[in-house]
Amino acid sequence: MIINKHLTHTSNVLVIGCGGSGLRAAIEIKKSGLEVCILGKRPKTDAHTVLAAGGINAALGNLDKEDSWEQHFIDTYLEGYGIGDPLKIEIMAKESPSLVREIDKWGANFAKLNNGKLDQRYFGAHKYRRTCYSGDYTGLSILKTLLKKTEELNIPIYDNQYVTELLIKDNACFGAMSFNMSSAERTAYLADAVILCTGGHTRLWKKSSSRENENTGDGYYLSLKAGCKLIDMEMVQFHPSGMVFPEEIEGTLVTEAVRGEGGKLINNRGERFMKNYDPKRMELSTRDKVAIANYKEIIEGRGTKNGAVFLDISHKSKEFIIEKLPNIYRQFLETQMLDISKSPMEVAPTAHYSMGGILVNPEDLSTSVEGLFAAGEVAGGLHGANRLGGNSLAEILIFGKRAGIAASKYSKKMDRQIRSNKSIAIAHSNINKFIKNGDELVRPFQRELRLIMWKYCGVIKNETLLLEGLSKIERIKNKLDNIYIRIDKYNCKDLVLIFDLQSSLVSAKATIVSALQRNESRGAHQRSDFPIIDPLCKFNCLVSMDENSNLKISKIPLKELNENLKTIIANAKRDEDIKDKLLE
Ligand code: FUM
Repeated sequence: MIINKHLTHTSNVLVIGCGGSGLRAAIEIKKSGLEVCILGKRPKTDAHTVLAAGGINAALGNLDKEDSWEQHFIDTYLEGYGIGDPLKIEIMAKESPSLVREIDKWGANFAKLNNGKLDQRYFGAHKYRRTCYSGDYTGLSILKTLLKKTEELNIPIYDNQYVTELLIKDNACFGAMSFNMSSAERTAYLADAVILCTGGHTRLWKKSSSRENENTGDGYYLSLKAGCKLIDMEMVQFHPSGMVFPEEIEGTLVTEAVRGEGGKLINNRGERFMKNYDPKRMELSTRDKVAIANYKEIIEGRGTKNGAVFLDISHKSKEFIIEKLPNIYRQFLETQMLDISKSPMEVAPTAHYSMGGILVNPEDLSTSVEGLFAAGEVAGGLHGANRLGGNSLAEILIFGKRAGIAASKYSKKMDRQIRSNKSIAIAHSNINKFIKNGDELVRPFQRELRLIMWKYCGVIKNETLLLEGLSKIERIKNKLDNIYIRIDKYNCKDLVLIFDLQSSLVSAKATIVSALQRNESRGAHQRSDFPIIDPLCKFNCLVSMDENSNLKISKIPLKELNENLKTIIANAKRDEDIKDKLLE
């Protein structure tokens, strides 16, 4: 079927993705006097941001006066095993207090202390109480607040739009091709600048805290194809606690706030096993360590019959649990008929966050393609080899805002708009090529890919597994010539699925080839054939795509700390003894 008709929509800046970073970017663009529009593939009130539960970090020192941006920097940089971008971390540590206060004032209405200041809870591996929160639905309250603001500013949000391609001419981005997910009607969204805020790729694993059809790696594919590079794709965070049943919601997040509020991890012998992995920090250790501990307990036979460990908060009162963890309380009651104030939960690691992503300049979020910016989970550099809980909500506000400012400046400086009918025609043919009557359905391939990633590129991997995973991915790719894609007037689900799968296959491959480069175990990247950190592996992995769509991999030296940050790290007091923080 050959279609080459489209509507045209023009704005100064196009934002792709209607989660927190996209909305925050758009607000800044509109405030600068420019026209902006936002595209999203999910309903705008249900972007993935709603799943960020436990809180947002800011070194406010409301409870622990000693806290400072410097300590937030130290915790993030060192717990990221020294491979994060120091400047990006510094920006986050310095700017999160003002953005957290701002979003609270705009209506997020975080929990308050009696003195009216923001309450702050412990999250794993933060030296001080730094995590501001709304119960266990912080992402939802931030998203709602940002949506209210975009409405006040009359910013158009077109959800139900699937972006298939960024429009590029001479290494400059001038918009995106998209189709309506119900009608298949195509629109060329033309703009001076484009910001990608499309999230990560953790739906590619069988157990995932992402829902169906979200975080399928779309931004990685779009940006690679446009000419960007991806950094540290091997760094995929497994959250220690996902639900294990019922099967339809396997992997759903059980927030770290449960541990922050005193939850204990227990194996089938009744042992509080974190004492064997991180005796000082126990359940408030880093996510990578707790995830590995849970994983080992399970695979070494000390788990439950459902393949989990116990997470127990039943020593706290029901009132306390309902106040601090209302969603988790309801989630277990509704899906398992389990009252967590009476019985422990069963949890196991779940793919949760893509720490790698598009290589960006940390100050303005620009990529190597002119006029193309990236913010939020889709961008890399902030978290290194292990993300601290609560840093992602800070990331979306800070870097969403910065990307919005930078894209506006870029647009205002332009003296001539870039357009190319040829690029638009190619975008059409790249959609048309998928519309055919083959024998294979897409959904089973997606399922197969999720099983492959879990088995061959999971919590602990090795070279043999990774290579096998890679060849299985190639096999799926080779079958795509024979797919069946049906489009009718009211339904183009198949088209959505094939584009999701295309992005997922490329993102999966980028992850595995990066994991094969890193012959060591560092943070979330655990290799059974190289079980320890190798001090010589101080590099970042880069992935790019050549003109034949082959992925190219290279290594670059880590970014150096500037003199000030060097001194801060050299004087860092890493007091890991936090017994007094465990809220039992
Ligand atoms: O566990 C959580 O509430 C997740 C928070 C985060 O990923 O930042």
